[in-house]
Amino acid sequence: MQIRPADEDDHSGIDALLKAAFPGPEEARLVVSLRAADQDTLELVADDHGRIVGTVLFSPVQAKSPAGTEFYGIGMAPVAVIPEHQNRGIGSALIEHGLTFLTSLGVPWCIVLGHPDYYPRFGFQPAGLIGWSWDGDPDGAHADAFMIKPLGGHALPDTPAIVSFHPAFDGV
Ligand SMILES: CC(C)(COP(=O)(O)OP(=O)(O)OC[C@H]1O[C@@H](n2cnc3c(N)ncnc32)[C@H](O)[C@@H]1OP(=O)(O)O)[C@@H](O)C(=O)NCCC(=O)NCCS
Repeated sequence: MQIRPADEDDHSGIDALLKAAFPGPEEARLVVSLRAADQDTLELVADDHGRIVGTVLFSPVQAKSPAGTEFYGIGMAPVAVIPEHQNRGIGSALIEHGLTFLTSLGVPWCIVLGHPDYYPRFGFQPAGLIGWSWDGDPDGAHADAFMIKPLGGHALPDTPAIVSFHPAFDGV
């Protein structure tokens, strides 16, 4: 199995994988929208002898403090592994490869909205700990799922801020 950047020939395989891994088509649509909006900063696939068995996409994320200071980082979504290949380390390999590459580019932090039991193993912590929230969750009902990880030697901002995702995420 090989982790490599996705290319156009992979799109139908990624679409099928996302529809198999998630209960609905929203994540598959999200990926198509992010590509169309040129928001697909890094898209990786796990290629098992020509079959796409896993994928992860990273796209730009912006945060803004109450005083108007803007911060730019990256968001990780979606990440998915085809059901019959789950729990074999493929998701971890995709995430680690992606974060390592983005760190090498100098990206300061990565945000994820996801399972609070899965992402801490990669160094993610609740973004609420640094006073960050997300504009899609004004009452903080999903605060435990909203996590951030500093990349490389970057310190996380010590200013509260509100994170905005690209409008493509509105349908997810
Ligand atoms: C979440 C997902 C990407 C993980 O990929 P994977 O290749 O199965 O994961 P890995 O083999 O790298 O890691 C396995 C570990 O993740 C844990 N894990 C998997 N899914 C989990 C979940 N939904 N919540 C908490 N932990 C989870 C497993 O329990 C296992 O833990 P262990 O190492 O302590 O035994 C994959 O299960 C998946 O595609 N799920 C459906 C789509 C999805 O929910 N994507 C994430 C959206 S936030």
